[in-house]
Amino acid sequence: MSTSAVSTEELMQMALELVDFDRLPADSAIYVSGDGIERVLFGLDIGTGELLLARQLGYQAVIAHHPVGLAHRSWFVFKRHIDLMVGAGVPRNVAARAVESKMEALRISGQSRNYERVPMAARVMGMPFLNIHAPLDEMGRRVMQDAVDVALRADPDAALGDVAAALARLSAARRAETEVMVPLGDSAARAGKVVVAHGALTNGGYDVARVCFDHGVDTVVYIHVSPEDLKRLRNDGRGQLIVIGHLVGDAFGIEPYVRALRVRGLEVGMLSQVVAGESP
Ligand SMILES: [Fe+2]
Ligand SMILES: [Fe+2]
Repeated sequence: MSTSAVSTEELMQMALELVDFDRLPADSAIYVSGDGIERVLFGLDIGTGELLLARQLGYQAVIAHHPVGLAHRSWFVFKRHIDLMVGAGVPRNVAARAVESKMEALRISGQSRNYERVPMAARVMGMPFLNIHAPLDEMGRRVMQDAVDVALRADPDAALGDVAAALARLSAARRAETEVMVPLGDSAARAGKVVVAHGALTNGGYDVARVCFDHGVDTVVYIHVSPEDLKRLRNDGRGQLIVIGHLVGDAFGIEPYVRALRVRGLEVGMLSQVVAGESP
């Protein structure tokens, strides 16, 4: 075993340190522990097929981004939207009310899933397996907010379309087949105060965006939004929304982690062309 070999615990710890998290969030987990790992396969979504592929290609561990069978507990991470809203100027009691309904829906629907399915396959195969979600999405949120802030410092009156274009110029966005969209608001209008609401399990939907618009935020950035939530926001007739695209938004957070693994001397295979592990 070479000096670069790591354990699954070290793989997780490296992600937590990237964003200064002192605890494992409820949407991230080590399903099968292992050590002596030098070759790891990373994918956004891992199922039994990808685990078998990893074994066949000689990988010693698999890291998923999205939670694999944690729906019964990952709903709790949606609460992070409260801090994001408070940081954007929303009073805490208003922010707390804005997450209630979605958190309850996530908690109830989380009871229906077979949370053992893929983790058990990994266990039976003896394949070290973990998923890292909120820490990498928090990293991605910082990357996107920084890109937005740089654009607004260069031109405080930048248009909504200019801010979307600044995000679309980042390398992961250029590799993707999706577009950075402006589905709400006039691209020529001033972007104003822009808040990237990401890193809290999933997008904040209608309630989080509406509360932000009610409290001085001109533009909200999500990586994806449901058609129903978008319709409701459009019906309100105010606010501006930029949608990055799911793979691209996730790439911004995953890439710094993959680079850190490679600096550590690990070989990382990627099940993505959008998430390439290059500099943003
Ligand atoms: Fe993500
Ligand atoms: Fe995602």
